[in-house]
This record gives sequence, C-alpha cells and structure tokens, in this order.
Amino acid sequence: MAPSILLIEDDARLAEILQKLLCREGYAVVWTTRGDQGLALARQQRPDVVLTDLKLPGLDGLTLISQLHALHPKVPIIMMTAHGTTETAIEATKLGAYEYLLKPCEPRELLDLVATAIAHSQRMTEVVELGEGGTARFALVGQSRAMQEIYKQIGRVAATPVTVLIRGETGSGKELIARALYQHSDRADKAFIAVNCAAIPETLLESELFGHERGSFTGAHARRIGRFEQAEGGTIFLDEIGDLTPGTQAKLLRVLQERTIQRLGGDELIPVNVRVLAATHRDLEQAIAEKEFREDLFYRLSVVTLRLPALRERVEDIPELVRFFLRRYAQEFGGSAPSIEPEAIQWLQGQAWPGNVRELENVIRQAMLLARPLAITIEHVQQVLARDRRLPGAASQTLASYIAELLSRAQRGEVEGVYWRLIADMEPELFAQAIRLAQGNQAKAARWLGITRLKMHEKLVQFGLHPSRSDNSGAGKDSRSA
Ligand SMILES: Nc1ncnc2c1ncn2[C@@H]1O[C@H](COP(=O)(O)OP(=O)(O)OP(=O)(O)O)[C@@H](O)[C@H]1O
Ligand SMILES: [Mg+2]
Repeated sequence: MAPSILLIEDDARLAEILQKLLCREGYAVVWTTRGDQGLALARQQRPDVVLTDLKLPGLDGLTLISQLHALHPKVPIIMMTAHGTTETAIEATKLGAYEYLLKPCEPRELLDLVATAIAHSQRMTEVVELGEGGTARFALVGQSRAMQEIYKQIGRVAATPVTVLIRGETGSGKELIARALYQHSDRADKAFIAVNCAAIPETLLESELFGHERGSFTGAHARRIGRFEQAEGGTIFLDEIGDLTPGTQAKLLRVLQERTIQRLGGDELIPVNVRVLAATHRDLEQAIAEKEFREDLFYRLSVVTLRLPALRERVEDIPELVRFFLRRYAQEFGGSAPSIEPEAIQWLQGQAWPGNVRELENVIRQAMLLARPLAITIEHVQQVLARDRRLPGAASQTLASYIAELLSRAQRGEVEGVYWRLIADMEPELFAQAIRLAQGNQAKAARWLGITRLKMHEKLVQFGLHPSRSDNSGAGKDSRSA
C-alpha cells in the first residue's frame, strides 16, 4: 500500500504543486486547507506522515501540532514555515513535531525529508514478529538454538530501560532486533528514533544528535532541537555506532553517564530520559586496541550485548527464511508464493553468505523473478548467485544486445518481468561504479544519479557496497568469497 500523507496547506497553488510532486513519488495524498479539518481527517484515518503549514485558518499551528501529536504520537509531522516563523517551528519540534522546512521548499529537500519521515513512521508502527513462522511483513524468522537464545534475551531485556548493544555482521538483522526491542518495551507507545551514524556527515552528526543554538557555527541560523531531545521519554537507536568520531564518542559518553545533553554552542544542561539502543558490525575490541573507539564508552553501551549469529552459523534456519521471503515477495509482486526444489534449498545451505540474511533475501527475490511463473530450481538460484558474484555481469555485454536477448526470451515465454529483471541486473553495477568514482562520497554519487541520499544509502547497504564495511570504498562485492 502507498504511504499516506496528510497535507495541510491553505495556499492552493502551492498545495497543488506539492500534491503533484508527492503523487509522482507514489504517495497517497489527502489535502485540506484548514487546521481544524486537518485534525478531523487525522482522527478519521491515521496518516503515515503529516506535512503542514504553520499559519493556517481554523486552528493555529502550535495548537494543531500539539493536538496531532497527542492524537498520534508516532506520526511524524513536518512543518513548512516561512521566514519569520522559524522560532515557532522550533517551539513545535519541542512539542513533538519531527522536522521543519523553510519556505520556499526545495523539491528535492522536501522529498528527502518525507522519505526519511515515512521510514521513521514505519519503523515505529510495522510490527516485527518474533520467531513464529513470520506472517507479518517483518519478522525475526528462525528456530535455531542461536535464534532461540536471541528471543529469550529480547524477552529478558526488552521491558527494562537498559542500554543494549546489538552486534553482528552486515545483514544479520541488527535493525530488526532494535525494532523488536522497542516494540516489546514499556516505551512502545513513545517515539523510536533511529540515527544512522555512518550516513550523516561527521560535521552534522553532533547537531543532529544534540541540537545546536543559533550561531553556534556558520550556517546555524536558528536553534535546532536534536534527536535526543525529540526522543524524550522514548528510545533512540544509534546505528553504526562504531563509526563515531572521537569527539562525538566523548559527548555520547557524557550523555550516558549524566543523562543530560548540551546543545552545540549552548551551556544549558538539559536532562533527557531516553533509552539507548546501539548497533555495529565493527569489531569494537579491535577498534579499542587501535585507539579508534573509547573503552569507557564501550562499557557504557554494552551493559547488555546481543550478538546475532551469522547466517552460515545457523543454516538450519535457511529453509524457513526462504519460505518467509517467498511469501513476502509473492505479496509484493502479486500472486501466490512459488514452490522451490528441495535441492535448491540444500544448495543454499552450503553457501558462505558474506551478506547474511539480506543477501539470501536478495537471492530469493531475484530467483523468483527469474523462475516466474514456474517453481524455483537449483539452476535458478545458482544462476542468480553466480550473476551476483561476477559483478560486471550484464554490463560486459552491450546494453542493447542484453536487452534484445531478454526481450526475445520473453517473446518465447522463457522469462517474465523483464523490466524488473533488467533493473535488478543493472543496479548493483551502477551503484558500485558511482560510489567508486565518487571515492565513497555518497552525497556526490547521489547527485550524479539524481536520487536522494537516503536512497543512495539504502542501495549501498542492499548491495553490500556501504563504505563503512569495507576498507576501500565500493569494494564490498569484490571481497566476496564463493
Ligand atoms: N531473522 C530474520 N528473519 C527474517 N528476516 C530477517 C532476519 N534477519 C534479517 N532479516 C532481513 O534481512 C534484511 C537485513 O536486516 P537488517 O537491516 O536488520 O540487518 P543489519 O544487521 O542491520 O544490517 P547492516 O549491518 O547492513 O545494517 C532485512 O530485510 C530484514 O528484514
Ligand atoms: Mg542495519
């Protein structure tokens, strides 16, 4: 289902432009011009995100935001504010609004922010099922001993406000665990804010986390409320914690020790009541030995440590995971889940899985597209994995002849879903080359491709190209072993 956006904007011309922009991105938009009507609509149907003007007829902006927030504490509210009302917008972020945007809004910036807010909203609301066959879209699947142990640990620590460090290789399910911990905590009705420490440029991360006062650095035109303050009473998930710089590590340590934050450039000590969850794929003991990570911070973070097994250490879970992904993607592609040969599953169990569950998920998805509408055979999965690991793949043929070949196979009824096949074949190569050429600079690569930074980050993670997990940028795929 398309994510829904409630748009409250009294300027009809602007509203029309915004609606077009958002619909083109695939969002379902409901629009109203009045604050009181906006509130009524939100009461009828919970939107995924609210995008609202601050000066509105019917109800003033601040009242609207505090009432919306009281009604749906987990719905992110983005305010669009004209110059001169920034102070009010900042007040509103203290009342629970998610983010504000200066008018006139730059389309790219607006879409970036909406995408982040939607992801934020889904993380809070989409339930992660625990070990029960997985009928939800998100589930922790697997009955191996290692996973049983994880479920037990989740049960033990979820409800307590203790800090948890989630460790595990890339794609092993760390984010899923963080969400499960949040959903089973006594703070489940409060905010869950995830910050990916590796995706935010170093210079902006501290302000993102702790906020800043006006004028605290060039470009700080107004005060900003940081994510810690916004998460008050709730949970903050610090993802890729191993990538923090020493300066930020020191500040975070202070927060954990004293339970207060200080905005950049401010002297006020602001008490915060926030539960911290953190995750990393890095070997922190080694980082400590190399003086890249503070030992005292490590001890503060790892009060409880959940260590996720690699997929190759729990191959008995592969059949269940495969069935889970077949169901999930059957829903997405439309149609019922295809069957898969037992030999194919056996063969999958013998693979090394450097990208863990995420990699298995990608293989199943592609094998489904390759096999459609027939059952998945061992040849299909072998072909997909071979194609994945031989990176240049499709690109080594000329594009035109590759497309011609695909189309003629479609004509003969041998393949279906040529569009998706082609995209799936080209994407890893495109992203690998772009990030390599940009020397790991994600913002630059995203600009070249004309996509959002968020999308860029998602794709890099999806294809195992995220620079933070390889020594030289973009080498993720090359370092795979068969
Ligand atoms: N036990 C599991 N059962 C079902 N799906 C899983 C499981 N573990 C992970 N997944 C799926 O695998 C994908 C990757 O999971 P997730 O993003 O949580 O991994 P991660 O450890 O945070 O990876 P990274 O280190 O790359 O950030 C997601 O699509 C998630 O739904
Ligand atoms: Mg993750």
